[in-house]
Amino acid sequence: MKFELTTGGNKLKAYELQGPGGVDGMMLVEKAVPVPGHGQVLVKLKAATLNYRDLLTVRGGYGSRQKFPLIPLSDGAGVIESVGAGVTIFKPGDRVIGSFFEGWLGGEPSEAKMRSNLGGALDGVLCEYRVWPAAALVRTPDHLTDAEAASLPCAGLTAWSAVVKFGHIKPGQTVLTQGTGGVSIFALQFARMNGARVIATSSSDAKIEKLRQLGADITINYRTTPEWGKLARQQTGRGVDLVVEVGGVGTLNESIRATRIGGTIAFIGVLAGQPHAESRLPLMVMQQQRLQGVTVGSVEDLQAMTEAIAVNRMKPVMDRTFAFTEAKAAFAYMASGAHFGKVAIEIG
Ligand SMILES: NC(=O)c1ccc[n+]([C@@H]2O[C@H](COP(=O)([O-])OP(=O)(O)OC[C@H]3O[C@@H](n4cnc5c(N)ncnc54)[C@H](OP(=O)(O)O)[C@@H]3O)[C@@H](O)[C@H]2O)c1
Repeated sequence: MKFELTTGGNKLKAYELQGPGGVDGMMLVEKAVPVPGHGQVLVKLKAATLNYRDLLTVRGGYGSRQKFPLIPLSDGAGVIESVGAGVTIFKPGDRVIGSFFEGWLGGEPSEAKMRSNLGGALDGVLCEYRVWPAAALVRTPDHLTDAEAASLPCAGLTAWSAVVKFGHIKPGQTVLTQGTGGVSIFALQFARMNGARVIATSSSDAKIEKLRQLGADITINYRTTPEWGKLARQQTGRGVDLVVEVGGVGTLNESIRATRIGGTIAFIGVLAGQPHAESRLPLMVMQQQRLQGVTVGSVEDLQAMTEAIAVNRMKPVMDRTFAFTEAKAAFAYMASGAHFGKVAIEIG
C-alpha cells in the first residue's frame, strides 16, 4: 500500500530521504495527514526504533526494494487515531504495533508480500501519522512502553523466527548469538525464554558483562578469540544447536565450526563483511547442518511473538532514546555501534 496523502486537513511532520545521500540528505517535511480508507486505520506514531538495515537505506543500499523519496524506518508503535469503513477489530485509542511487511499477513512468503516492507519499498514510520491496513497491526502488550513495542517488528521478529519458528529451540539446547545488536539480544532473550543455554559473543568486555547479566551462560570476546566457533564447540562438547548468524559470510566459517552435527545456522545478516578465502561450507554436508535464511516474518508471526512476550512479561533491552528532533543523531549513534540492544526515537 502507498502512503497516500489527501489535500487539506491537518498537517504531519515526517523525515524524508530525498536520495541516496546519507543521513544528511534526510529532510524534515510537512504533509497532509492521510485519511484511512476501507479496512485501514490512521495511527498516531509514538515511537520508532532503528535497525542496521536503516543505515543501509539512508545510503541507498537496499537495492531494488527501495524507493525515493522515502520515509525511513520500518519499526513503529503508536495509538489508533481513527478507523476507516469496515474496521471492527480496532477503535481509536488502541495501542498498536505495525508489521515490517504490511502485505505479508501469514503463510509462506512471496515476492509480492516481500515488496510490502516499510522504510524500503514503502514509506516507513519516521513520521507523526501513518495509515496501515488494519490487518497489518497487532495490539501492544500492556507491560510494554511504546518505545519497547516499537522494537518488535523487525529486530524482535527476526530473532523470534530464528530461535522459535525455524530453530524450534527446546529446553536444554544451546544457542549461539553474535554481538550485542538488536537481533542478537532478542535472540538471547527468546533462547532463555525457551529454557535454552546461550553462548553470546561481543567485541567489548563491558558489553560482555551486560550479556552475563541478561543470562548468557558462556561469553566470548570475538575480537580477542577469533576462533570463537572452535571454542564454542569445545565448551559444549558436541557443538551448538543453533547459531543466530548476523555476521553473514564473514562469520560463517566459525559458525559452521560452532554448530553440532545436524544443527542449524539461521542466516540473517551482513555485519561481518567479506567471506574468508577458504570456505568451510563443504563441511556442512559432512555434518548434515542446515542453513536457514530468515527474512523477518509475517503479521501472524508478529502476533504469536507478542503473545509470548505478554505471557512471559519479557522486556526488550533498550539502549538510548532520542527525541524526534534528534533523529539524525539517533542514526549517527546507531552507526557508531556503541549501542547494546535497541536505539529508539520518541515521536509523539
Ligand atoms: N534477514 C532479516 O530479516 C534481518 C532482519 C533484521 C536484521 N538483519 C540483519 O542482521 C544484522 C544485525 O542487525 P541489527 O539491527 O541487530 O544490528 P545492530 O543492532 O546494528 O548490531 C550491531 C552490533 O553487531 C555486532 N557485530 C558487528 N560486527 C560483528 C561481527 N563481525 N561479529 C559479531 N558481531 C558483530 C556488534 O556487537 P558488539 O559491539 O557487541 O561487538 C555491533 O554492536 C544486520 O546485518 C541486519 O542487516 C536481517
